[in-house]
This record gives sequence, structure tokens and C-alpha cells, in this order.
Amino acid sequence: MLRQPLLMLSRSRHVQELVSTMPVSSGIVHSYVPGETTDAAVTASEELVAGGMWVTLDFLGEDTLDVEQAEATVAAYVELLGELAHRGLARRAEVSVKLSAVGQALPDSVAGGGHKIALENARTICRAARNAGTTVTLDMEDHTTTDSTLAILRELRKDFPETGAVLQAALHRTEADCRALAHEGSRVRLCKGAYLEPEEVAFQDRIDVDRSYVRCLKVLLAGQGYPMIATHDPRMIEIAGSLASRYGRERGTYEFQMLYGIRPLEQQRLAESGETMRVYLPYGTEWYGYLMRRLAERPANLSFFVKSLVSK
Ligand code: FDA
Repeated sequence: MLRQPLLMLSRSRHVQELVSTMPVSSGIVHSYVPGETTDAAVTASEELVAGGMWVTLDFLGEDTLDVEQAEATVAAYVELLGELAHRGLARRAEVSVKLSAVGQALPDSVAGGGHKIALENARTICRAARNAGTTVTLDMEDHTTTDSTLAILRELRKDFPETGAVLQAALHRTEADCRALAHEGSRVRLCKGAYLEPEEVAFQDRIDVDRSYVRCLKVLLAGQGYPMIATHDPRMIEIAGSLASRYGRERGTYEFQMLYGIRPLEQQRLAESGETMRVYLPYGTEWYGYLMRRLAERPANLSFFVKSLVSK
């Protein structure tokens, strides 16, 4: 019941300004976001890798309408990738990028438009990742960005075929998108979808999203690509394991992914059982939208968030 209002709030600049002076170190934020700086993020990655995990790092930020801010985000990724290489982590740690953080939402009137700016900025990050010896996955945002994001993915893959994509089972179109992307060399992260979407484009009931998730899993695991199974849902994890066996998938030809701080014991269990387990690790000061989406998935945590606010 709280999911919808929380997701609406996640887009509110006004509330964001009110609460985002809260430091990452405060209780609930820290449980989902380990730090603000490159150093904190790399140190947290080091700990995860030492515990047998793989990592994908997200420099927090989204929906920027400022060219300079988009460029600062690119610079942050370039610095991060240099540091991952320097500290010997690039084999096990890649980066996840939200195209709206690197300019996708900018209007057409600005320097060729948001799509073009985001493409060029993403290209710079892909180049830095290649130089560091790792990869980029493009996060997927709300449905209004899906076509642009997949078009940018196609462009990037001409030079950087290792670039990964995210597809959201909540959208009606996604099973078809999975078919289009289930080809050799294609890295696809399948998630349920974290955004508030209208019924014209998305399933509204959880059960329908889950059914779609399973159909998409079948397409990806039966295909030739590299599926990245991003879910904390015990049923989806079990079904993915059975489907992987059914389609003769060896371990290492697909991976599981979960968000930092969510079900860490299950992350550990999967890693210890020999699965590739990658943790999505967000860092930075722009945690507001990310945190609100996490609260929408788990409204039980709302009271902890309110307590953090009151005691700040
Ligand atoms: P579901 O929401 O049904 O949760 C299953 C169980 O997981 C819950 O019962 C609970 O135990 C636990 N859980 C889930 N969320 C929790 C939380 N916030 N706090 C504590 N426990 C929680 N989305 C998107 O739209 N675009 C993207 O690019 C990405 N990227 C992405 C990367 C990775 C690695 C992951 C794991 C997820 C994403 N997502 C995403 C988010 C995704 O779409 C989805 O919103 C969340 O993963 C929650 O869905 P589950 O599949 O976990 O199932």
C-alpha cells in the first residue's frame, strides 16, 4: 500500500532537499549505502571480494538536468575505475551506470540533446572501464527511457560489446527484449523493476511480475548470452537454479546479483555454494532516490528512516 506514495516521493526534489543533508553514516542510509567517497566504495568492495563476492559499483545520482553535473559524474566513474585497477580489483568489480546521471534527461535544446550527451558520456566510461580491465552495465530507469537506453546500448556495443544491459520483468515488453538480447556475448541483468509504472506498459500485480520474471529467465537461460539474475526473492532464486540445470548451464555462464545490505547471508550462501554472486554497491551523497526505492520495496524499514531523520 505504501509502495506507490514512496515511489512518488522518490521523484520529489522538494523532499529530497529536505532529507538529503543527512549523512550516509546515519542508520538506515548506511545499511544500503556503505559510503560517500571513492575510497569508501573501493574499501567496501575489497571486503566483499575478500569474502568471495563479485561487485558492481554505482556512483549515486540520477535525473540530472545540468551538463556540468553529468560531466562530474563521468569524472567520478573514471576516478573509480582507475582506483579499482590500482587496487587490483578490476577482475571482480565492474560499474553500473544510470544514463540519466550522465545527461539522458537533458532537453534537446542542450548540445545535441540528452540522448547524444548520455551516449558520449557513457562511451567515456566504457573506455575507462576497458582500460581498467573491467566492464560497464547500463542500469534501466523508468519506461520512458527504455528505448533510448537500449539504443545507446546498441551503439556502445559496436565498440564495447562487453557492455551489459538491465531489463525489468514488470514491463510488458521485456520478454520480447529478452529474446532480442539473448545472443552470444550479451550480458543481461534481469530484475523485477523498481519504478512506478502505468498499467498500459507494466504488470501491476506482484504475481504477474513474478510470472513474467520466470518467462524472461527461461528465455535468457535457454539463450546464448550471459544472464545476470538480480533478485532477493527466494522463489526466483530457486527457480533460476532449476532452470539453469534444465538448460545445461554450467556455473560461471550466468550469475546471481543482489543489492548491498540486502540478504547478506543468502549472498554468502550462494557464493559458498560455488555460484558467481555479485553485489551491487551504491556510493556517494545522492542516495535519496535509491533509498526511497529500497523503502518502497520494504516499507517495514520506513520507521527506521523516520527515526534517523528525527535524530539528525
Ligand atoms: P521482492 O521485492 O519480491 O523481494 C523479495 C525479498 O527480498 C523480500 O521478501 C525481502 O526479503 C527482500 N527484499 C527486497 N527488497 C528489500 C529491501 N529494500 N530491503 C530489505 N529486504 C528486501 N531495478 C530497476 O528498475 N533498474 C535497475 O537497473 C535495477 N538494478 C538492480 C540491480 C541489482 C543487482 C538488483 C538486485 C536489483 C536491481 N533493481 C533494479 C531493483 C529491482 O528491480 C527490484 O526492485 C528489487 O531487486 C526488489 O525486487 P526482488 O526481486 O528482490 O523481489
